[in-house]
Amino acid sequence: MPGSRLSVLLLVSGCLQVCDLHPDVVVRRFRFVDLQRTWTEAQTYCREKFQDLATIQNLNNNTEAQQAAVNSQFWIGLFNGTWRWSQDKEEDNNPSTWFEKWSTLEPGTGSCVSISKAGAWYAKDCSTLNAFVCFSAETGQHVLVDQKKSWPDAQAHCRSQHTDLSSIRSLEENTQVSALLPDPVQTDLGAFFGALLGGTYSTSTTSTTYAWIGLHRSPWAWSDGSSAAYTQFGLLQSKGRDDCVMMDSSSSTWFWRPCTENHTFLCNTDIRPVAMRTLKVRMSSASADLTDPVVQNSVLQQLKKRMEDEEGMEAVRLKWRMQPDGQVFSQEEGTAPPPVCQQDDACGTA
Ligand SMILES: *[C@@H]1O[C@H](CO)[C@@H](O)[C@H](O)[C@H]1NC(C)=O
Ligand SMILES: *[C@@H]1O[C@H](CO)[C@@H](O)[C@H](O)[C@H]1NC(C)=O
Ligand SMILES: *[C@@H]1O[C@H](CO)[C@@H](O)[C@H](O)[C@H]1NC(C)=O
Repeated sequence: MPGSRLSVLLLVSGCLQVCDLHPDVVVRRFRFVDLQRTWTEAQTYCREKFQDLATIQNLNNNTEAQQAAVNSQFWIGLFNGTWRWSQDKEEDNNPSTWFEKWSTLEPGTGSCVSISKAGAWYAKDCSTLNAFVCFSAETGQHVLVDQKKSWPDAQAHCRSQHTDLSSIRSLEENTQVSALLPDPVQTDLGAFFGALLGGTYSTSTTSTTYAWIGLHRSPWAWSDGSSAAYTQFGLLQSKGRDDCVMMDSSSSTWFWRPCTENHTFLCNTDIRPVAMRTLKVRMSSASADLTDPVVQNSVLQQLKKRMEDEEGMEAVRLKWRMQPDGQVFSQEEGTAPPPVCQQDDACGTA
């Protein structure tokens, strides 16, 4: 019956693999890097290739990190907060041009820095009330603000009224800034005591004046700027100032080491998950030869366009799956079992 071939539509079905990228969903994972680097080099590497050095914020993260690098000791993103200038400019915080003028036995335990009339620096509790020196980029001048404020309030004042709290980059600038401070107040107590004791003592006391400058330090912090609320330090710690943190994956605890040592490291990486589905597609075919790869591909392109246009899916990737008989489509005759479209393992990342 030659005529019937044209009038009867064949019902065929095939399995279509759909990979659907979710551009708005981001999942954070750890990536272990088996290269020996200093902490800062590792940070640069992670920032270039992934997101940043690893941030561990809870026990789950810690377990994930441990599993990412079995039997290893590696840098994570935690470091001991370092001294920084409020303006946080490259030239201010560059270690090779770093200027400092600590007084004897300073810096102590304070985290905010004040300068004395004599030009020496003192680390103080940031909540102490002091006058402060702002820098104005407009005039290029340092300005003494003779109001007593805490360091954070002083910083806010400078940032709203001028540019920022002053950075000091040289001895010359240090002298300029300290010269702004009022002379120490001398109280002559000689007369007072003299009158009191009926003697001829002469004594005086000097009250030094201080003003905040822009230098301060932060406590433990993560490379990506997260606060360090969760830590997992082990009991055995080295003495001294070792400012970068490693994880020991066998004990899943952390310890600190000098940042200049070379070690392997763990990065954060943000990946976009791909959803994969397998669909069964049934079509009626009149004349097109569905065994032809060109035809198969053209059907694929049409389906892809329809999914993107009508279902709002983005970056969909489609692929026909081969049936056990080596064909993509099987003809559905009343009795033949329809193909079973099994769920596939993965979409791949290509
Ligand atoms: C760490 O924990 C946070 C909060 O639960 C989570 O969003 C993040 O994906 C975890 N990071 C890793 C790398 O598992
Ligand atoms: C962290 O830095 C502070 C201030 O610089 C220092 O006193 C402390 O010893 C450092 N901690 C470690 C573990 O190095
Ligand atoms: C770290 O490795 C570099 C080479 O990659 C080497 O030049 C440097 O001396 C090493 N530093 C230490 C502290 O071992």
